[in-house]
Amino acid sequence: MPHRFEPAPQRERIAVALADYVRAGGALSVADGSGVIGELEQQIEKVLGLPDPLSFSSGTAGLHAAYLALDMPPGSEVIGPVTTFHASLSPALHAGLNAVLVDVEPDTGNLCPAALEAAITPLTRCVTVTHYLGHPAAMEEITRICRERDLHLIEDISHAYLSMLHGQRVGTFGDICVGSMQDRKSWPAGEGGLFSAARPQWRERALLAGHYRGRALLLKDPELAAFGETGLGLKMRMHPLAAVVGLANAEDLVERLAARRALLERLTRGLQGLSGVRPPVVRPGAGMGGWFSYRPQIQPGELKPGVDVNAYLRRLQDAGVPAHYPSVGSLAGMPLFTHPVPLHAASGTWRPRRCGPFHGESAYNAGRISVSVTDQDTEETIGTYAAAFAEASQALARPVAT
Ligand SMILES: Cc1ncc(COP(=O)(O)O)c(C=O)c1O
Repeated sequence: MPHRFEPAPQRERIAVALADYVRAGGALSVADGSGVIGELEQQIEKVLGLPDPLSFSSGTAGLHAAYLALDMPPGSEVIGPVTTFHASLSPALHAGLNAVLVDVEPDTGNLCPAALEAAITPLTRCVTVTHYLGHPAAMEEITRICRERDLHLIEDISHAYLSMLHGQRVGTFGDICVGSMQDRKSWPAGEGGLFSAARPQWRERALLAGHYRGRALLLKDPELAAFGETGLGLKMRMHPLAAVVGLANAEDLVERLAARRALLERLTRGLQGLSGVRPPVVRPGAGMGGWFSYRPQIQPGELKPGVDVNAYLRRLQDAGVPAHYPSVGSLAGMPLFTHPVPLHAASGTWRPRRCGPFHGESAYNAGRISVSVTDQDTEETIGTYAAAFAEASQALARPVAT
């Protein structure tokens, strides 16, 4: 059975690449960044335009390394969006830091600059943004705030490979950029993560955090190199077989994501002007890269009396549209961010602050549904989805006022 997210040709290419590598005697553990590890890192630099990238065993590990690399005093606060995957912020727990959750913008689900500014305290040292579902965060305002308040900025680009803001690639605005290469992401390695830093010293510290011996012994900073044999005691490097998968998926990445964007833009055109539903917002100047998930918003206020969001969604599903309620990435209700954690070592530092109420998040999530568009979709299937939306709106929504 073909995997849902990878059509058969891509699976086949991965299978061949893995078999070729293993049969040719490729290393199954690489400590020094050579071979397929180095090749993947070169591809990351070439394709994503990120300087001197490093591979990690996961996005979570890359984020852990990022928080360690910035070497902030214990108890420092990291401000991040309430709507993201937990690992954008949770590794800060293991670097002696604390998390502060702030509201997101109602149209994009991205960190709200005004909420960020209001949440800053003398303990704040860092801001982490996620370019949620592929839409670039408001980097002009956020970089200005970080500059003025002397805060570090981490970009989590896990959802946003090849996304742009006014012609600039996401991941190149902040101090450190991290992305997940887990299997559901648009550049998958099965499991994996990427890391890139704007300053060599942060890169060196990230190497020390997770790449002991092989690579950490080569550090230029003599103070850090002295610890090269052990690093900081953790191991976070990527498995070479994951790098082989990542390289196989790099081959047609740009074309694959462009094709996906074209299909989703086609769907957006189909939804435009319909009563009862809005396509996901793409702000002027935003390029959606891999467009991690396509999430239109049903407008209950435009539905006919007695019709609710459920009824609209069911109608789409009955017409064969692979639509469903998305799993919501709100951190505000997760015990990791609401309860004392069962880890004495962190009890003095990890006391997450929730700067609610999260009206932006509620507005973003209201009526939000997800349409699963995969690499197997075509102009034709997208056309049928668009037609199903038009039919549902015709049947269940009030006519558009002219
Ligand atoms: C925004 C975001 N950040 C970080 C991660 C963590 O990445 P990984 O699963 O590779 O550890 C994910 C994974 O889903 C994610 O969606």
